[in-house]
Amino acid sequence: MAAWHRITALSSLLQVGLLLLLSVGSSGRTLDKCLGGKSCQPPRPPVVLIPGDLGNQLEAKLDKPSVVHYICYKKTDSFFTLWLNLELLVPVAIDCWIDNIRLIYNSTTHSTSPPPGVEIRVPGFGQTYSVEYLDPSKRSVGMYFFTIVQAMVEWGYTRDDDVRGAPYDWRKAPNENKEYFLELQKMIEEMAEKAGGPVVLIAHSMGNMYTLYFLNQQPQAWKDRYIKAFISLGPPWAGVAKTLRVLISGDNNRIPVISPLKIRSQQRSAVSTSWLLPYAHSWTKDQVLVQTPTTNYTVLDYQRLYKDIGFEDGWMMRQDTEPLVADLNPPGVAVHCLYGSGIPTQAGFQYTDKFPDVEPTVVMGDGDGTVNLRSAMQCGRWVGKQKQPVMLKELDGNEHVNMLLNYTTVAYIKDVLFSP
Ligand SMILES: *[C@@H]1O[C@H](CO)[C@@H](O)[C@H](O)[C@H]1NC(C)=O
Ligand SMILES: *[C@@H]1O[C@H](CO)[C@@H](O)[C@H](O)[C@H]1NC(C)=O
Ligand SMILES: *[C@@H]1O[C@H](CO)[C@@H](O)[C@H](O)[C@H]1NC(C)=O
Repeated sequence: MAAWHRITALSSLLQVGLLLLLSVGSSGRTLDKCLGGKSCQPPRPPVVLIPGDLGNQLEAKLDKPSVVHYICYKKTDSFFTLWLNLELLVPVAIDCWIDNIRLIYNSTTHSTSPPPGVEIRVPGFGQTYSVEYLDPSKRSVGMYFFTIVQAMVEWGYTRDDDVRGAPYDWRKAPNENKEYFLELQKMIEEMAEKAGGPVVLIAHSMGNMYTLYFLNQQPQAWKDRYIKAFISLGPPWAGVAKTLRVLISGDNNRIPVISPLKIRSQQRSAVSTSWLLPYAHSWTKDQVLVQTPTTNYTVLDYQRLYKDIGFEDGWMMRQDTEPLVADLNPPGVAVHCLYGSGIPTQAGFQYTDKFPDVEPTVVMGDGDGTVNLRSAMQCGRWVGKQKQPVMLKELDGNEHVNMLLNYTTVAYIKDVLFSP
């Protein structure tokens, strides 16, 4: 979903000191010294970066019983970069790539696994490289959190020490990433103890739903102790209309060499795609999202839609994942919610009778070019629903990924990090 290929180049002062006064320091460990007393507030809070869908590297190692094409590797001696590696996304090679990155869903266990002989791992947990550049060769096409991290280094931060990445297997939803959340919790605790003060979480895109899920699982006392603030960039709180098109007819992110129908099989197999479909708490039941000559589908017609596109496992994936954050329970930490607007954003799809194997006519709406505005602004429901502050900042003219490079975003982050 991240428009990683289109990345080009890249206010208000906030008082979150209140959070510290509300925080409770009880037992006598390092951290407690600084809670409840401004004077020993560390110079800067440690930061954890939580990327979005497609937002960190993945590596694969192969020892496969069979391949889809004679040019595909059957066996590799070591792990290689599966995402993002542009060399694997060219014609023919992409068939091998799809057969390696796809997931196989087991409808008995409601869980996914890689194809036989494919081992996938997420490199760089606790470091920043895997979220700064998606492409290890650091071609600018894959630039992601680099601008923010580089700015932080200029403010005195050290990569892999007090600013760290929390990459994960973004093909899956939180229900299949339990180990990840334990590691994330442990890393936050270690960073807070070392710094002598709580951590700031910065998430982008789907990483916000991961972060919300994580925070919703943590006891309030843990959050009071370890989290200073949650900076939420481009959050799809209510899902993204574009994922409907991804599931129905595929989306090549406007990379012409990739056939949408080809990439569709991989995109359907990623459970997180179904997790990100629009949610009924924010899309009305009379709004037509997908139109065909015979049928109109709204947010309440997903079961039928999955059946009509010949992807019935998808309905199970949706049911498995929909409850994870559908209640949008307040995170219980100070929230800064930043999102772009004013960019034409896919909002509805009209198909001909070739449905679903054809490109749709797209109806545009407001948003950041990926996330619909109505979805991003749902953090507004938390205002007054939690004791911690909730700040919303709409960034007119900011595209979903480019917002990570925009001076306004970087300056806002600086204000949050260096406010008392
Ligand atoms: C799904 O998982 C069950 C339980 O582990 C197993 O018995 C079954 O063979 C699996 N199904 C497929 C299609 O792999
Ligand atoms: C679908 O909805 C549109 C209006 O959004 C309407 O014009 C059309 O007749 C409907 N089609 C069907 C098959 O109900
Ligand atoms: C950066 O953000 C500001 C504030 O939303 C906006 O006016 C400006 O156009 C953005 N710049 C770019 C290059 O996107």
